[in-house]
Amino acid sequence: MKAQFLSAAAVLALVAFGAQAAPAQPSHKITWDNRSLMIDGKRVAIWSGEFHPFRLPSPDLWRDALQKMKATGYNAVSVYFPWDFYSFAQGKYDFTGVRDIDRLFTIAEEEGMYVIARPGPYANAELTRGGFPGWLVNQKAKARTDDPAYLAAADEWLSQIDPIIARHQATKGGSVIAYQIENELLETTPSHSRYMQHLADKVRDDGITIPLFSNDIGRNGYWVPKSSKVEKTVPGPTDLYAWDSYPGGPCMADGTPGGLHAAPDFGWYSQGGAKGGSSASPNTPGFTSEFGGGWFDFWGSDGLYTCLANRIGSGYERVFYGTNIANGLIIHNVYMAVGGTSWGWLPGPIVFTSYDYGAGIDESLGLRDKAQTMKMIGGFIAATGESLAGMQKSDPVASSNPTIKLYHNANPDDGSHLIVAMHNPSSAVTKDKFSFSLKTRDGAYRIPAEGEIAVNGQDAKMLLADFGFLGQHLVYATSQLQTALKTADGDVALFYAPESEMGEMVLRYASAPKVTVLAGQAQSQFDAKTGDLRLNYTHSGIIRLRIEGGGRAPLTLLIATTEIGKTFWHDGTVLVRGGALLRKAKADGGVLSLEGDNTASETLEVWASKPFSKLTWNGDALTLTKTASGSVETSSLSAPEPVKLPDIWAGTWRFQAGSPEAARDFDDSAWRKADSKGGTSTVKPPLGQPTLTADEYGFYNGDVWYRGRYEGTDAARHVDLTYGAGGAGMMQIWLDGKFLGQHELPTGADRPQTYGTVRFDLPEWARKQGSHVISVMVRNNSHNWDLQADDAHKEGRGLISVALAADTGPRAAVPIAWKIKGLAAPVADTMRGPLNNGGLDGEIKGFHLPGDIDTSWKVAKPDSVPAAPGTYWLRSHFDLDLPNGDVALGLVFGDGKTLRSAQKYRVLIFVNGWNMGQYIAHVGPQRTFVLPQGVLNAHGANTIALAVTSDGDPKNKIEPVHLTVLRNARGGVGPISFSTPSK
Ligand code: GAL
Repeated sequence: MKAQFLSAAAVLALVAFGAQAAPAQPSHKITWDNRSLMIDGKRVAIWSGEFHPFRLPSPDLWRDALQKMKATGYNAVSVYFPWDFYSFAQGKYDFTGVRDIDRLFTIAEEEGMYVIARPGPYANAELTRGGFPGWLVNQKAKARTDDPAYLAAADEWLSQIDPIIARHQATKGGSVIAYQIENELLETTPSHSRYMQHLADKVRDDGITIPLFSNDIGRNGYWVPKSSKVEKTVPGPTDLYAWDSYPGGPCMADGTPGGLHAAPDFGWYSQGGAKGGSSASPNTPGFTSEFGGGWFDFWGSDGLYTCLANRIGSGYERVFYGTNIANGLIIHNVYMAVGGTSWGWLPGPIVFTSYDYGAGIDESLGLRDKAQTMKMIGGFIAATGESLAGMQKSDPVASSNPTIKLYHNANPDDGSHLIVAMHNPSSAVTKDKFSFSLKTRDGAYRIPAEGEIAVNGQDAKMLLADFGFLGQHLVYATSQLQTALKTADGDVALFYAPESEMGEMVLRYASAPKVTVLAGQAQSQFDAKTGDLRLNYTHSGIIRLRIEGGGRAPLTLLIATTEIGKTFWHDGTVLVRGGALLRKAKADGGVLSLEGDNTASETLEVWASKPFSKLTWNGDALTLTKTASGSVETSSLSAPEPVKLPDIWAGTWRFQAGSPEAARDFDDSAWRKADSKGGTSTVKPPLGQPTLTADEYGFYNGDVWYRGRYEGTDAARHVDLTYGAGGAGMMQIWLDGKFLGQHELPTGADRPQTYGTVRFDLPEWARKQGSHVISVMVRNNSHNWDLQADDAHKEGRGLISVALAADTGPRAAVPIAWKIKGLAAPVADTMRGPLNNGGLDGEIKGFHLPGDIDTSWKVAKPDSVPAAPGTYWLRSHFDLDLPNGDVALGLVFGDGKTLRSAQKYRVLIFVNGWNMGQYIAHVGPQRTFVLPQGVLNAHGANTIALAVTSDGDPKNKIEPVHLTVLRNARGGVGPISFSTPSK
């Protein structure tokens, strides 16, 4: 039998994944041609999704994410490793706990997932500094060039991460199959080329032997392998050419989708020269290293994730990914497959805490409908395996109806054909019907022989012809293949199409087989001349047929509606209908042990490749009833136990004022003098003023405080400040302990203002002679990314310049002696790392940490604490005892629905010391914050600490907060360790 069915099990066998502790794994050879990668000589379609472990500070849940990816059709995971996350200071790195990437690779190996590793040094990914470490901001050398100082820094990082990646390469028995250098480097000067070459040489020196690629910012032909030799492309030190694209279109700021886009042809079917042409790299496989699986959302929007999940939803996946498959993009990475949380100070200025992305697997690791569609597409890819990966563009096939276009590819090795059918243009959503003529080795056919095929709404169909699977032969089908499985009782194949559409399927036999319709309705006719058995039916429920004899193994055909197709799970060893997730199947001595999730008491229907007489679901034995379809129907699964949540708002809260730095007499003797004249900020103070930006003093993340002393004068009537604070950043100012006001950077655009200028009037009394103290707090909502490779990440944060001004005329040359305080790197909290905290007094004193620091604090109802401008802290403790299973919780502010509150305040949310995000009540849109188990102690004590910042107006009091259940399924990945120390 040809190895056409590259099931998940086969993928496992190919890469021979194993536990890290196991003896050395066999190494694998990765080769490629212009059709696909080959692993140990076998063609493989790499169906990958992006997952960011650094956006999930609970390593036990990394396995949950990978299991869910695998169950929803992915065979690979692509991962950025932002330098920043792992570097505590120059020369100081950490790869433990939430930074334990060895563990991630091991999990991927154990779960049978290939890995695409993307360590940068630049990432982007809507991260502060695009993933560059804080300390790099102070480097004069231009980043992402061949300046030796920058190269030395980059080498320092690569020397740390490469050995970890190297020992997990497929070529060393692991599962990492490709390595990305840089990301979207759009400058292509000789200096940039030398930089790229330097990275590649370094990576090779570090023992990386898997293929290298970069991620071109669109299909420009930048950094194509040198062997490509295509005009107008930019050669680079790469083995494969890869690029990204987000053609699905965004949602509008008001949360509406806007008009649908048509899917571009980015490969074999594109027109034109090298830039938009058939290939910028003719000798390497089609490779999209990021293809939109959603989009990010920004401060002040109307909350786009639901809209994005629908717009970049099931229909989009079929049309756009279908177009990609037709175009030969056989290495395909969906960005993002799994949403994440930009906790702490991870988020770049554009985005707020939730990086849900409208992804198939949402931020809380719940499966959206679009993930079920991916399961079906991934099932098709696994079931067609080597055939699909070996296809080429074939002769044009005409559609009977010009409103439908057809892509036609064929595999010259095994003769199989793929027809991808969709609207023309693919943005159309009408209901159109068509037929076409196709010649295969089986003969010439009008497909379908009876009636027509429909494409209805935003949809595309991937149809097979002359396709061998298991031991069966499909002449063609107008229903789509979801999966196929060999069992002791014969073969099983699952096909699908939308409800009430007509379907036709032709299978080839040596002689007339016996056809039994087990359920639903279907007509069959056998043509003895050709050996064709033709089946005609209308999709409704599940049509079940049993076909026996005719020279082949018996076949159970399941022809489902698309919606019912979504209820099947398959991993290459079992086919299961029902349940909310299938995580694992193990057959041993007649016992089939299934692990998975269920949200209700329901039965399962199960087929398996190995015979079994006992079946367990998460260890519970189920009773089995045999069906005529070769499956068993199980007894009902136990329903999940209800989740009981404490009413935290009604609990005991204690409070503490949090801005002592504002007081005139505050002791700042230990603070650093801010008197530098140097600095790298792209925004400079006027000549003569000191450099105030926080980076210059080693304070890279979070809030920063300043205190400036000056001698009063009548000319000092106003204070003008320029400050850098990222998206939705803000500053507050006091004079001699009196609050002058605050300023917030405007939001509402997806490229927010990141620094601003503001004037405050100084009171009469401050114009008198004598010494005065200005106190300023800047909420630094992170640094810019370096998308354009122009050092934008060096734009200063904190105060940039301050001048005292008269009413008219030049600014008074009143000198101000400044001091600064932030959280100095390297931070002491090595568990949570450098991005967890800034320099608030409470953060430095540990008000955010679990423990009993608050016992002496006053008890108060959180919405009735005495209002004062600045920051105050609220703390409360609560116990949880969650049922074991896949239980996800969130923290909700207010009613959870209002986009922007009338109250103006912001909150840093600390749970057991972890900074799980920032709520800005009047900016929005995020109201619910995902709190993963692991950060939460699911079985014991938890501490919540809220750092609330406002102007002190009693109107701007905090809204009620409560816990909410985002998901409750029985099953789960197993116990999630809670390792937070009690202090
Ligand atoms: C790409 C970039 C990613 C991410 C994405 C948008 O251009 O490579 O890092 O920023 O856009 O989410």
